[in-house]
Amino acid sequence: MLKGKAVVLGVTGGIAAYKAAEILRGLKKNGADVAVVMTANAGRFVAPLTFEALSGRPVSVDLFDPPAPGGMEHLTLAKWADLVLIAPATANTIAKLAAGLADDLMSTLALATTAPLLIAPAMNTRMIRHPATEANLAALAGRGVHIIKPETGALAEEEEGYGRLASTESIVRRASELLLPRHDLAGRRLLVTAGPTREALDPVRYISNRSSGKMGFAIAVRALSRGAAVTLVHGPVSLEIPAGVHAVAVLSAGEMQAAVKEHLEASDAVIMTAAVADFRPADPRPGKIKKGGTDGMVLEMEATPDILGGIGRNKGRRIVVGFAAETSDLEKNARKKLAEKNLDLIVANDVTVPGAGFESDTNQVEMFTRTGRRIPVPLLPKEEVAERILDQVASLLEQAEEGA
Ligand code: PMT
Repeated sequence: MLKGKAVVLGVTGGIAAYKAAEILRGLKKNGADVAVVMTANAGRFVAPLTFEALSGRPVSVDLFDPPAPGGMEHLTLAKWADLVLIAPATANTIAKLAAGLADDLMSTLALATTAPLLIAPAMNTRMIRHPATEANLAALAGRGVHIIKPETGALAEEEEGYGRLASTESIVRRASELLLPRHDLAGRRLLVTAGPTREALDPVRYISNRSSGKMGFAIAVRALSRGAAVTLVHGPVSLEIPAGVHAVAVLSAGEMQAAVKEHLEASDAVIMTAAVADFRPADPRPGKIKKGGTDGMVLEMEATPDILGGIGRNKGRRIVVGFAAETSDLEKNARKKLAEKNLDLIVANDVTVPGAGFESDTNQVEMFTRTGRRIPVPLLPKEEVAERILDQVASLLEQAEEGA
């Protein structure tokens, strides 16, 4: 099933290096073409000849020893790869990747490639739990690097603990998922909202919030790559509009409600990621409000329309997904919104968690279904969180079809 897919397998110098031979066999068995790149230290654990025999390709180690005539090995391989997989990845390699160093073939190639990068860390528990390694892994995750967490089990030096390389099966499966994007949303029409709204006080001032639109845009992009037709109604954001998405720009909650209404009928599922203002100035002024004296001012506010509540009341057979941005009592508040707005799924976002919620490139959420299931999602790049949400949407759409 991986026929025609090119994988660069990076092997670094750790005791788990011998397991890379099994990973290589697993990828080859699935039909992938695999080229192995080793660090100089990896060669102390396993001879390059092992990987040459298993891959049927020369193994590259040295940046300055290009087997491709006239080519720069790191650039040739970087362009050739559909996926760069580093397994095992040592603390040293992870630190180099996080810092953007390029002092050997593997780190240079990782910097030069535009292919997805998947790393499988393996090391001693104290090293993986070290704040430096944790910070390096978080930085890589924030940049969209895919990370397969290690397992707990037997380590080198007869130690037991967290840091053992993930299983060969899970590494090969994850690599396959990245190489073969799913098309489980083909033929589905998704309506996604993203970003903040702006509620005008006068022609130059407004009330808004910190939403960047990153979460909603990630959902739109990933839904598109899984085959969906996507309409993205977004508030004012500074993100590039993804090619292939039908984008509708709005400013206020009122405008967002009108745009959602217009595209609702033609949608199979709605995902409301937008941080819609709950209140707006009751009496926006046509001209700029003058400062007047030095006294403060009292602002009268009115409720904005509850867009999601309206969709939930008339959802028909549509799948409706809401978000809940909370600063306390995450589960209780999220479940309340799930029930009150008649949703199929709610994505609860504790926006006080570092690296989660507004503006960040990562997010950590818990999903709750109307049937009472709780699905936690750890801190991951927003694109990965989007995939987890879309997994649920795909399965809800399928269930709705089967029940129809
Ligand atoms: O945009 P980012 O910087 O990436 O940040 C992502 C995010 C933090 C904005 C996102 O993950 C998130 O949590 N979005 C929901 C924000 C929100 O408004 O939550 P809420 O709990 O106030 O609203 C509950 C739900 O009702 C939301 O789906 C919201 O879109 C919807 N709503 C709210 C008010 C309103 N008047 N109409 C609505 O439809």
